[in-house]
Amino acid sequence: MDDKKYIIVTGGAGYIGSHTVVALRENGFYPIIIDDFRNANRDIIQRLEETLKEEVIHFSISCQEKSRLSGIFSQFPIYGVIHFAAYKAVGESVKNPLKYFDNNFSSLITMLELVREYEVKHFVFSSSCTVYGDPDEIPVTEDSPVSYNSPYGFTKKVNEEMIEQFISSVPDTKAVALRYFNPIGAHASGTIGEEPEGIPNNLLPYITQTAIGLREELTVYGDDYNTEDGTCIRDYIHVVDLAEAHVAALKYLPKSKEHMSTFNVGTGKGTSVMEMVHFFQEVTGKHLKYHIGDRRDGDIPKIYADTNKANDLLGWKTKLTVQDAIRSSWKFQEFISDYRK
Ligand code: WQD
Repeated sequence: MDDKKYIIVTGGAGYIGSHTVVALRENGFYPIIIDDFRNANRDIIQRLEETLKEEVIHFSISCQEKSRLSGIFSQFPIYGVIHFAAYKAVGESVKNPLKYFDNNFSSLITMLELVREYEVKHFVFSSSCTVYGDPDEIPVTEDSPVSYNSPYGFTKKVNEEMIEQFISSVPDTKAVALRYFNPIGAHASGTIGEEPEGIPNNLLPYITQTAIGLREELTVYGDDYNTEDGTCIRDYIHVVDLAEAHVAALKYLPKSKEHMSTFNVGTGKGTSVMEMVHFFQEVTGKHLKYHIGDRRDGDIPKIYADTNKANDLLGWKTKLTVQDAIRSSWKFQEFISDYRK
């Protein structure tokens, strides 16, 4: 009897997924990556294997291909599923909502069907602070009002509700939704990190690509917000700490008395765009070209997490700083620019 704790990691070749694969393996779990590489480079597998110094189990399958996925669930005794695979670009979701509804809803439904059929006991869902919309009160707790301001945010909110309703129908299965704040940073080796396709939407990848010469100049989207320096405030969490939160969730689930629980995964601290620009220059010693531009549609002025629930119940807290994240992201940018030449 194979008593290894196999964990299906959908989207395991992606940015957060790949770091979670490393954290799982380092904590004695056996990740099985399910990813069709529509939004990841295939060479991530080799880089993961070099980091872990062993083979990584992976299958190139979409989360909508149920019969092929069934083959994996019948081949391995699955201890848990971590479901990352989803589209995640807010702007694109506004232009093409059906693409988001199709993928983000049907992938979750397929995974939940497999959870039911193969009696998988533990399910971890990748959610987002986007479900808080533009909050009236900060920091946000898990009980803060939930809303959405994009089709992407709508899919995350509805996905959480789908899991909640589904999970009551499978008494032996428990679920956790992790609401990520703003993940940044890279693995300390500098060989695994965030590699956006095309022009980055997110702040730190835009900064590192500018500093390495791939982009002309950073535009700071507005400095007339009602914040101390006028730029927007976010809760930037190191992706390695975020990956650890998934391990903590898997360890918590068997002990949990709740069928489904939700946790904020952030640092509890806010950092402004201009602070990020200054930290980047301090940490790397690189000059960053930037100018102040107009506000970006849909941006909220300020959000950060109340992390007490995750700290207390998951026994998890962040260990790394924004400066650590900037340092590792820059190391990864230097590595990947060279690697792609
Ligand atoms: C951060 C700040 C920008 C780029 C994203 C997702 C959201 C959720 C959290 C997933 C903002 C400013 C950015 C640039 C800038 N994740 N900025 N110039 O908007 O908080 O949200 O992460 O679920 O759904 O969209 O992150 O990195 O895009 O922006 O000034 O070129 O940086 O205005 O204040 P955001 P971001």
